[in-house]
Amino acid sequence: MQKKIRIAIDGPAASGKSTTARLLSKKLGYLYIDTGAMYRAATLAVLRAGIDVNDEQAVERCVRENKITLRIKNGEQRTYLNDEDVSDLIRTPEINNVISIISSYPKVRQILIEQQRALAKEGGIVMDGRDIGTVVLPDAELKVFLVAGLEERARRRQKDLEKQGIHLSLEEIKEEIARRDKLDSERDMSPLRKAPDARELDTTNLTVEQQVEIIYNWAQEILKARE
Ligand code: DC
Repeated sequence: MQKKIRIAIDGPAASGKSTTARLLSKKLGYLYIDTGAMYRAATLAVLRAGIDVNDEQAVERCVRENKITLRIKNGEQRTYLNDEDVSDLIRTPEINNVISIISSYPKVRQILIEQQRALAKEGGIVMDGRDIGTVVLPDAELKVFLVAGLEERARRRQKDLEKQGIHLSLEEIKEEIARRDKLDSERDMSPLRKAPDARELDTTNLTVEQQVEIIYNWAQEILKARE
């Protein structure tokens, strides 16, 4: 039997990683692992506990004490904080505002990275994030780095937020995305960076279907070469 591979998809905020990774995993019959959702759930736990996000030790303790899991419900991946489904609560501007601080703490990353590696152990996964190809799964069989122009990324994010009833101007969204990219790229531990052996894909002028198709074909090439 053909061995299932591991696909790492990294890239800046709103570059289309989650949509692409989710659809690609369905097409391949693989499991989708959204690592951003894990950092988001950790951030929600910290905010709910009323902890000062600059208090690194208190944040670490909080993340260690809360159980963050990804589970499949009705064929869709959902994010749980302890036993509560928080999937819809973790995509808010309040979380976006502080998540880069929380995800810059080495011990917080260590806790979540261990869980991510355990989830990927058997292969047959598409994992998206910032450091998947560089740190979490440096030996993934296929690594993709998605990029897209800031203007286009802001437009996509605005559409997603509108669906949740959150109305922000394009300018506000552009600022938030650019700020988060800067913080995510400049942190010391596993910054947002393209792995040297990652294939870069610029999605500015691609439809979601096109970007999924391109990565799917790359995956097929790798699977064929391994037969
Ligand atoms: O992919 P996303 O926008 O849901 O990610 C939210 C934040 O989580 C992102 O700004 C940085 C952090 N993150 C990270 O540091 N490492 C990952 N592998 C995934 C996300």
